[in-house]
Amino acid sequence: MKIFIDTANLSDIEAGLQRGFARGVTTNPSLLAKEPKSSFEGHVGKIIDLVNKYQPGIHLSVEVFADKPEEILRQAEEIVQKFNYSQISIKIPVGWNELGVIKELSQRGISVNCTACMTPLQAIMAAQAGAKYVSLFWGRIRDGGVDPFFDVLRQDLLQKKVLDTNDFDPALVVKSTRQLLDAGRLDAEIIVGSIRSITDIRDAALAGAHIITIPPKFFPDMSSHFKTTQVIDQFLSDFKQWLD
Ligand code: E4P
Repeated sequence: MKIFIDTANLSDIEAGLQRGFARGVTTNPSLLAKEPKSSFEGHVGKIIDLVNKYQPGIHLSVEVFADKPEEILRQAEEIVQKFNYSQISIKIPVGWNELGVIKELSQRGISVNCTACMTPLQAIMAAQAGAKYVSLFWGRIRDGGVDPFFDVLRQDLLQKKVLDTNDFDPALVVKSTRQLLDAGRLDAEIIVGSIRSITDIRDAALAGAHIITIPPKFFPDMSSHFKTTQVIDQFLSDFKQWLD
């Protein structure tokens, strides 16, 4: 399992990259919008400067911010040309009209991370269209089964058999996607995002995610354990007593 950092916050990216455990950085328009107002080019440029300073050559996913296929295609090309970073992937949201964009970009040699996938079928269609990465949104998949906002819509989709209750179990969605990718000998890697807890990270890894993109607030706790703290304190105090 590879760890990516899921943020657009420059200090959090720097703190992560300095420690060397991350193999990539992912952003999205909402994450960028949490940062102090600036330009898209300026902010992404600063992220690339940090990556080049600490871990040149790791993955970077940058998302388009358009909804018309022609505009998505144009933006994707522009981002690739503007930043000229060899490991950049363009995040394209999954969808009927977007599949053609994924195909086109992939044929032009642009690495696509197909984002906002909630089901194995969305992910497989994107992978077959040429996406190198398919991003499955763990927390939001689970929310789909409980969010009261979707009650009417969900009932309709369940009735039409577009979905069934398995589609709200993120572990099953990731596991099935991995099985289908492997069986179809598709090269796309699964990135699990929308992580809400440290146990989500473990469960996503065990379910077959190739990569997990993680909000930086979880990293300190991921690298700690109360028994680690206890034993290190004990070592130091035992040794101090021996010296005294
Ligand atoms: C992943 O690529 C996305 O940036 C992100 O993980 C989405 O997570 P959210 O559900 O917290 O918005």
